[in-house]
Amino acid sequence: MSKTMMAAYLPGNSTVEMRPAPVPAPGHGEVLIQVEASTICGSDIRCIYHEHLGKGPERYQGVIAGHEPAGLIVEAGPGCRRFKCGDRVIVYHISGCGVCADCRRGYMISCTSSKWRRAYGWQRDGGMARFMLAEEKDLIPLPEPLTYVDGAQVACGFGTVYEALEKIGVSGNDAVLITGLGPVGLAAAALCRKLGAQQIIGIDISPERMDLALGLGLCDSVLASGPDNVAQVRELTSGGGVERALDCSANAEARATAIRATRKWGKIALVGEGGSVSFNPSPDLIHDQKAVYGSWVTSTWRMEELVERLIRWQLHPEVIVTHRFPLHRAGEAYALMASGRCGKVAVCPGDDLGAAS
Ligand SMILES: NC(=O)c1ccc[n+]([C@@H]2O[C@H](COP(=O)([O-])OP(=O)(O)OC[C@H]3O[C@@H](n4cnc5c(N)ncnc54)[C@H](O)[C@@H]3O)[C@@H](O)[C@H]2O)c1
Ligand SMILES: [Zn+2]
Ligand SMILES: [Zn+2]
Repeated sequence: MSKTMMAAYLPGNSTVEMRPAPVPAPGHGEVLIQVEASTICGSDIRCIYHEHLGKGPERYQGVIAGHEPAGLIVEAGPGCRRFKCGDRVIVYHISGCGVCADCRRGYMISCTSSKWRRAYGWQRDGGMARFMLAEEKDLIPLPEPLTYVDGAQVACGFGTVYEALEKIGVSGNDAVLITGLGPVGLAAAALCRKLGAQQIIGIDISPERMDLALGLGLCDSVLASGPDNVAQVRELTSGGGVERALDCSANAEARATAIRATRKWGKIALVGEGGSVSFNPSPDLIHDQKAVYGSWVTSTWRMEELVERLIRWQLHPEVIVTHRFPLHRAGEAYALMASGRCGKVAVCPGDDLGAAS
């Protein structure tokens, strides 16, 4: 094994810097993972790629980028209890202290230890390299027939929306509205379909993303974002509005649409991050007995549950991946994701082998 590897860093000026980095050695309770797939997230673009805007848990500390990796364990340090060399794994994207109340519930995303909570690709080295170190407690098994590109999307994208959908409960009874058809919104649509939803309506501003949602059969109708959206959704749902809505856009108008286009007794989950929203509590929420949920990522145990269900449902998250790049072309991968003219974008370091440069 070579002692150095190329790794992608995000200097914050809409570029990617490829620099050599040492191949790390696993310590106690850690493993060395050969990264096979690392997907790019809207949060990477929003908080790091253009400018280092993130604060607190979203503060980027100049580490190797990439918080959505999956790969193969090639070395297990001493003291590992469950995973071993040769295991295929997904990495939960936040390494928590492991012992606070949130970590003990599996929600390392909200670990309360400012000293020990470190997210991969934000405060500790992530998956945009051939190898990465991970703590054993952060790993989820990735069984066949799921691929590495499937696995890379289980933590942040599919796991996040699975958590939100479990909170609001989606079944065959429901018409569902999804505002924002980026990779997170597309993942939501794919899961709603498997949960039984017969009518899925999507809204976006990007024609590419609207076409993708329809073309993949993930949405039954798509609407261009605009001031008539609430009336349009009501018209598509016998006048009543949807039973469930998810905002995956973070846009203020789209969030208000998600709330207003939901019928009486309905439930709405807010997943898109940042920004604001304004609505009128009495007519938009209180008098219609509606509930709005916030949902932040997911837990390690729910990720394991999702992996099992993906296999049962024969759902491969990679269906929403439209572009795949070798590691040495990570710059193009981030630029494409930033343009929005794509579905999910994956970087696959194994694809560099035999590549021209
Ligand atoms: N809550 C969580 O735990 C969590 C986890 C992961 C990502 N996120 C957030 O979820 C959001 C989606 O992530 P993504 O990777 O799909 O990002 P993305 O930026 O690719 O997707 C956002 C989509 O919203 C669309 N949009 C913008 N304005 C709109 C409008 N007015 N109406 C309808 N659609 C509009 C965009 O065209 C885009 O397709 C981001 O805000 C991301 O930070 C949240
Ligand atoms: Zn992510
Ligand atoms: Zn903790």
